[in-house]
Amino acid sequence: MHICCVHIDQTLDETAFQEMMQYVTPEKRARIQRFRKPIDATRSLLGDLIIRFILCRHYGFHNHEIHYEHQEFGKPYLPEHPDVHFNISHSGDWVVGVVSTHPVGIDIEKITEVKENLTSLALTTEEHQQFQKLNETERNLFFFELWTLKESYVKATGKGLSEGLNTLQISRDNGKIHIEKKGKPVPAYFKMLECIEGHQLSLCSFSEHPEKDMRSFLLNEFIEKVKSLLRMSKTLYEGK
Ligand SMILES: CC(C)(COP(=O)(O)OP(=O)(O)OC[C@H]1O[C@@H](n2cnc3c(N)ncnc32)[C@H](O)[C@@H]1OP(=O)(O)O)[C@@H](O)C(=O)NCCC(=O)NCCS
Repeated sequence: MHICCVHIDQTLDETAFQEMMQYVTPEKRARIQRFRKPIDATRSLLGDLIIRFILCRHYGFHNHEIHYEHQEFGKPYLPEHPDVHFNISHSGDWVVGVVSTHPVGIDIEKITEVKENLTSLALTTEEHQQFQKLNETERNLFFFELWTLKESYVKATGKGLSEGLNTLQISRDNGKIHIEKKGKPVPAYFKMLECIEGHQLSLCSFSEHPEKDMRSFLLNEFIEKVKSLLRMSKTLYEGK
């Protein structure tokens, strides 16, 4: 399993943005161009490039072979490669992506003050009772741990928020994280990755993967890596 995190620590300048756009499909380019805010366009472009970067570097792909389609609830997948799974998440100035040989979901969230209306959306009654007993700082961490764990699960299944986060209950014993849906245990493996200050990052897989390769890059560092890797790989989308 390969995880890549990119910190958007500065603005992506127009020349670099246009240069990187040539590595994604015309359909994705059109979607990216529809964003009104440049930061949203940058996040969406980077998510796509992160997956291309991992696929070309670790899974023997050429860039031109990578075509995504979307499942019923919007999860992108590789229709020609059913054994290769991936997922993307963005929050604030971070974009993360994961590629695995099993269904996988990833979620990053910036830890902020919890909005009261989100707790009933995301927590079960039991979790809400645990939440109420904590002080404010503990509450924020508790909430974003559960939120990202549950989101990583619904992103692994591909059903997204239609699963209903408050129908899922997270519990822990001896450092292991378990999930139940409407009271029934569901086989899923979780990992909380404490690598980005001020953010919660969680991963859900349907297979236990002891081997995880994780890299973090600053924006320009990542752009240079992508350029040198994808330049060598054929870029079918160039100029279109
Ligand atoms: C998936 C979902 C939970 C993500 O929420 P979020 O925290 O706002 O967003 P994140 O930054 O963590 O993840 C966004 C990425 O997840 C991926 N994604 C989108 N839908 C997904 C789904 N159903 N399952 C898994 N991943 C999904 C995409 O790659 C997306 O990034 P991109 O649009 O730049 O490619 C939420 O958007 C959702 O429930 N979507 C489903 C919407 C739906 O039902 N659509 C109906 C048909 S299109």
